[in-house]
Amino acid sequence: MEIVLSGIRPTGNLHLGNYYGAVTSFVKLQEAYKCFFFIADWHSLTTHPTPENIQNSARTILSEYLACGLDPEKSTIYVQSDVPEVIELYLYLNMNAYLGELERVTSFKEKARKQPDNVNAGLLTYPTLMAADILIHRSHKVPVGKDQEQNMEMARKFARRFNMMYNTDLFPEPQNFSLAGQGGIKIPGLDGSGKMGKSEGNCIYLCDEPSVIRKKVMKAVTDAGPQAMNSEKPEVIQNLFTLLDVVSTKDTYDYFNEKWNDCTLRYGDLKKQLAEDIIKATDPIRERIKEYAGNTDLLQSIAKAGAEKARESAAATLKEVRKTIGFKVY
Ligand code: TRP
Repeated sequence: MEIVLSGIRPTGNLHLGNYYGAVTSFVKLQEAYKCFFFIADWHSLTTHPTPENIQNSARTILSEYLACGLDPEKSTIYVQSDVPEVIELYLYLNMNAYLGELERVTSFKEKARKQPDNVNAGLLTYPTLMAADILIHRSHKVPVGKDQEQNMEMARKFARRFNMMYNTDLFPEPQNFSLAGQGGIKIPGLDGSGKMGKSEGNCIYLCDEPSVIRKKVMKAVTDAGPQAMNSEKPEVIQNLFTLLDVVSTKDTYDYFNEKWNDCTLRYGDLKKQLAEDIIKATDPIRERIKEYAGNTDLLQSIAKAGAEKARESAAATLKEVRKTIGFKVY
């Protein structure tokens, strides 16, 4: 069975865009692939977060993904820093990663510009660590966004280089895995800016309390109202209908759509209904997030079991790598 691996940067909370997009696809992928999902907490060290910061964000992210339906019985869900095998592979890969090519990576150049006082070696070798994450399980497919394509190219290059150097086919070349057609839906922002995204500051988070959700939805950008019968919806209005289509019943959607078409739609009514339906759709997830986040023992036992599975897979690869490089295997 093909292996799919995804690394999750432990920053921030999941929002509706994440949930109906990538996370829904991940949940589905669990049925068809051997999946590894991990929290990339070593990567976050490149920017020097505090210890509390690291602990809390790993806990939050784990709770939220579990609440959304990542299933530790079906997938291997783990925290990167629980799998030391990754660092050993990182070391080997770094021996054949060259300063020039690492310096040319766009995200390195950007980070170096943004934090000129902290251009550390970890930042420079971020792509080798990411390659180690991927290659340690000999992954075939990696779902990544556009911003990670260059890192994926590096991972393929490092895999090829290792294979060539030692005349082996130990590492498959990991492919970018497009999640288009995997059941995800693109969720628009409520500010008319198109996509819902953290950097756009227009998110409804899964952990938002109902009162917060109501406030955010009521503030959604609209226009002066329908001007002609059966007219096409401008983007800001279409966005509201897109959301309605995701969280409401068909009857509700049709009801407001008809009102749009005969020019009697009042946006306030639509927003009120939309807010309630978002709350209803996300209620069970919100509850489960709280359950997980409040149950440290459970989280710990899930992380521990995940780490054991991940280490078993990682150790099998590392054994081959060591043998290939020439280290003794006892
Ligand atoms: N670099 C990825 C990001 O910023 C996170 C990540 C780390 C990752 N290791 C990975 C993603 C391995 C996929 C595979 O989002």
